[in-house]
Amino acid sequence: MTTAQATDTVDQQADFDAVVSAEGRIEPRDWMPDAYRATLVRQIAQHAHSEIIGMQPEANWITRAPSLRRKAILMAKVQDEAGHGLYLYGAAETLDVDRGELLDKLHAGRQRYSSIFNYPTLTWADVGAIGWLVDGAAITNQVPLCRCSYGPYARAMVRICKEESFHQRQGYELLHALSHGTPAQHAMAQDAVDRWWWPSLMMFGPPDDESSHSEQSMAWRIKRHSNDELRQRFVDICVPQAESLGLALPDPDLRWNEERGTHDFGEIDWSEFQQVLRGNGPCNEQRLDQRRTAHENGAWVREAAAAHAAKHSARTSDDAVSGTATGEGAMAG
Ligand SMILES: [Fe+2]
Ligand SMILES: [Fe+2]
Repeated sequence: MTTAQATDTVDQQADFDAVVSAEGRIEPRDWMPDAYRATLVRQIAQHAHSEIIGMQPEANWITRAPSLRRKAILMAKVQDEAGHGLYLYGAAETLDVDRGELLDKLHAGRQRYSSIFNYPTLTWADVGAIGWLVDGAAITNQVPLCRCSYGPYARAMVRICKEESFHQRQGYELLHALSHGTPAQHAMAQDAVDRWWWPSLMMFGPPDDESSHSEQSMAWRIKRHSNDELRQRFVDICVPQAESLGLALPDPDLRWNEERGTHDFGEIDWSEFQQVLRGNGPCNEQRLDQRRTAHENGAWVREAAAAHAAKHSARTSDDAVSGTATGEGAMAG
């Protein structure tokens, strides 16, 4: 590096730091540190992958939804998740990566998706528990991301969060109906909450003292709150909601702590989290297999779209050439 280049980088770093600390937005054309770019690519890709893999557990129940109304709601929800994946792959592409490469990495197991989607949906009540708890945890995580320092990610999150509120609401309403239905329906709702509660708490990631990326992400204002802060917030939101649902949260240590002004809760089984992360959860293999198959089955759509785009751009450049030749270009204004 020459001295002039080095001075340039120092200036650019100073500009970047100033924008971030003034709560401004970094946009795709702006200079950014390589590590900032790499962190965003990793995070946005993992987020996009989670959205599309997350379609699977619930899509399992579309054909078995108990009424037309429930089926319409569930289909809308699963389609929203596909849309979230698209916004996020689009946001990742503003960082000079190709979505095809990101998908290849997902399929090869080299990039992650949220471990929550490696759990099975055993009953219809699981659709309710996922909406209430999993989408609820996602909202708690994602609302602060609407203020993330990277513009395209922050803007994608605004729209995603609006749709996530609908997801959380439909899950809560579904569980409420089951909980106040027959004793068998109530038991089904309770069983689903028993199975989804702890994995939902794991969605916030490892405890703060073991979270490797947190500190730098906070300094860059990608992340606003620590994993433990967000987890605590989520527990405090869920306790009164569980009460109005008439369902119990499966934690004997859960109680209000007057002094702290929040709820104490029991120890999370982090060995389970690590196992699922390593690929040994109940559905890891099935989810990736199904994703690879869906990708292969969609090859003709990608080929057709690419052929159409090539034809369109060839035609546009032909028009531009003939337009200039006949003087039409001058009339365009
Ligand atoms: Fe989503
Ligand atoms: Fe959602």
